[in-house]
Amino acid sequence: MAAISSVLLQLCSSGGHVVASATLYGGTHALLSHFLPRTCNITTTFVDITDHEAVKNAIVHGRTKVLFFESMSNPTLNVADIPELSKLAHEKGITVVVDNTFSPMVLSPVGLGADVVVRSISKFISGGADVIAGAVCGPARLVNSMMNLHQGALMLLGPTMNAKVAFELSEKIPDLGLRMKEHYRRAMEYAIRMKELGLRVVYPGLEDHPQHQLLKSMANKGYGFGGLLCVDMESEERANMLMHHLQNSSQFGLIAVSLGYYETLMSCSGSSTSSELNAKEKALVGISPRLVRMSIGYTGTLEQKWSQFEKAISSMRDSSTLFEIEGFGIRGLIEPLESTDITLKHLLKCHMNKVDVKDTLLAHILLKIFIPQSIVIYNLSSLTKN
Ligand SMILES: Cc1ncc(COP(=O)(O)O)c(C=O)c1O
Repeated sequence: MAAISSVLLQLCSSGGHVVASATLYGGTHALLSHFLPRTCNITTTFVDITDHEAVKNAIVHGRTKVLFFESMSNPTLNVADIPELSKLAHEKGITVVVDNTFSPMVLSPVGLGADVVVRSISKFISGGADVIAGAVCGPARLVNSMMNLHQGALMLLGPTMNAKVAFELSEKIPDLGLRMKEHYRRAMEYAIRMKELGLRVVYPGLEDHPQHQLLKSMANKGYGFGGLLCVDMESEERANMLMHHLQNSSQFGLIAVSLGYYETLMSCSGSSTSSELNAKEKALVGISPRLVRMSIGYTGTLEQKWSQFEKAISSMRDSSTLFEIEGFGIRGLIEPLESTDITLKHLLKCHMNKVDVKDTLLAHILLKIFIPQSIVIYNLSSLTKN
């Protein structure tokens, strides 16, 4: 975030304007929609970055200084047409800043026409989830201006990397290419196999991805299509259940918000890394609570890990039994989850008081009832009224 905020502060002055993709990492979205307008009078118009007419129309002559987008969007994995967007921005004298966090090695935005690349090094480049850092890569003129004694955002705001951390990071760069290839190899294989299992998968390496051909035309040969994929689980409760089983029943991966780690990390972006967007903004860009984002790791062998995935899917099927509470018109899925203090009585009270089941869903209230042999937790989020 320091890289992103420093570049934007360097390129825009008070009264400046940014045109940005509506699908951005939640922190970047909040920076542009709340923080920069309040503190610096820098405003942003958010657009669908795949709609080039909308991008053109959002540019305000004399005020727009920056076109900002993610090469591969977090979490929806849309791919931006970097050459076309750079061309249209340059025709209007606007600087193109691309966040390439999701696709190091895969995409080289400056080679494709962009002016500046920013990236979170905390992700693939670090690879070990042990460093929090970022990078700005741009023309010497810009980088020097950022270090200017009187006007430089890096010099004056001070997000300078510790020299020891910089050294540690430099040791991780030589194997970045190898790591990206393995992230890709597994993500591609799992995406194909998940599809065969009937799951709805979003992965830019699949031919049915809307920007598959575009990405193919821009990508550096041999590095594939990245290590992230998304699975649309059709409901929030099934999304949570999938992650629960993948972590706790089979150790396929960990539920965590980061990405680019050697272990597989999974999160529901809608309630985590994109929670800064409001419900309308999320709906507009297709960030649904059903979506599980997976950053595919490379520990163990591909086949070992796949058998863990299959095990999780079958234990999920075994444990998901539809139940009905007669007389109350309530039905839902039985899900063994962590314990909680909420009782069945509480659920029925909620229901009888006509508390919206969806509200309780958002509050992540879990209901526990005891049945012979085991404790079964009913996840309120999966309840629907008949
Ligand atoms: C696309 C993207 N850009 C920027 C960031 C911010 O990175 P950091 O947490 O290293 O500041 C993130 C964090 O997840 C991200 O996904």
